[in-house]
Amino acid sequence: MESLGLIGHPVEHSLSKIMQNSAFKEMGLDYEYKLFNIPREKLAIAVEGIRLFGLRGVNVTVPHKTEVMQYLDEITETATLCEAVNTIVNDNGKLKGYNTDFDGFKEALHFHNFNVAGRTILVLGAGGAARAIVAALKDMKAAKIIIANRTLEKAEQLASHFQNAKAINMDVAVLKESLNASHAVINTTTLGMYPNINNSPIFKAEDLANISFVYDIVYNPAKTTLLLEAEKAGCGFANGMEMLIRQGAKSFSLWTECQAPIDTMRKSLLLEETK
Ligand code: ATR
Repeated sequence: MESLGLIGHPVEHSLSKIMQNSAFKEMGLDYEYKLFNIPREKLAIAVEGIRLFGLRGVNVTVPHKTEVMQYLDEITETATLCEAVNTIVNDNGKLKGYNTDFDGFKEALHFHNFNVAGRTILVLGAGGAARAIVAALKDMKAAKIIIANRTLEKAEQLASHFQNAKAINMDVAVLKESLNASHAVINTTTLGMYPNINNSPIFKAEDLANISFVYDIVYNPAKTTLLLEAEKAGCGFANGMEMLIRQGAKSFSLWTECQAPIDTMRKSLLLEETK
């Protein structure tokens, strides 16, 4: 039996356990994925634990994605670019860090048939998830990326890494102006996520008149307040479920060296949603 898991704080809400264990079962692999609630001050010991207990690897989530990098033996170029690691592979005690959110986001947009090349994209938020998404947007040749964040300095810091990015604050008038100049909106903040489902980055359907696609990385609820407004406005829209699946599928392949059963993973999440 090979052991894997998720290290984060909190982790109880995570769907990765259900998704990964259903994939191992489908493929007849003797792996088990567990949730490990690790507070900040225990992160270094937890990473050493991966080596000591011989775990095959872990996923890393909030708040450790950047902090964990200093404890690893090797980090991929993509993870360095994203300044975040969400997957660790343990090869005989040597820990390598990857960022599968980057490819997961790219594949999700492809799945939803939205092409960002040559377009202006408004990104809401400047946290860990935003970093991987902005790097992916650049890689997919977005013409311009506008990063809006409550804390302007964080948006400025992120935008400074990318030639075609600019930072704005979340001021309503500033946001409306950017909405009029953009083709798509991507919410990377936790606004609207269960249990605070009435929160929203404030857009009403009429503000989205010029927008063709709205992507929300939140997947619980399946339709956030933002996506309900996008639907009213007649925009294309999607939640973060496919990104969750695709980043998980990449992690699965890194640990097992097998192709991930994506349909099984998707089914396990949809089943969970109906519970
Ligand atoms: P993650 O790694 O999941 O992106 P994070 O690094 O904590 O998580 O980032 C959360 C993002 O949501 C940030 O952009 C945060 O804005 P600040 O940088 O100003 O903190 C944004 N966010 C969270 N709660 C928010 C709220 N109530 N209003 C506006 N933005 C919020």
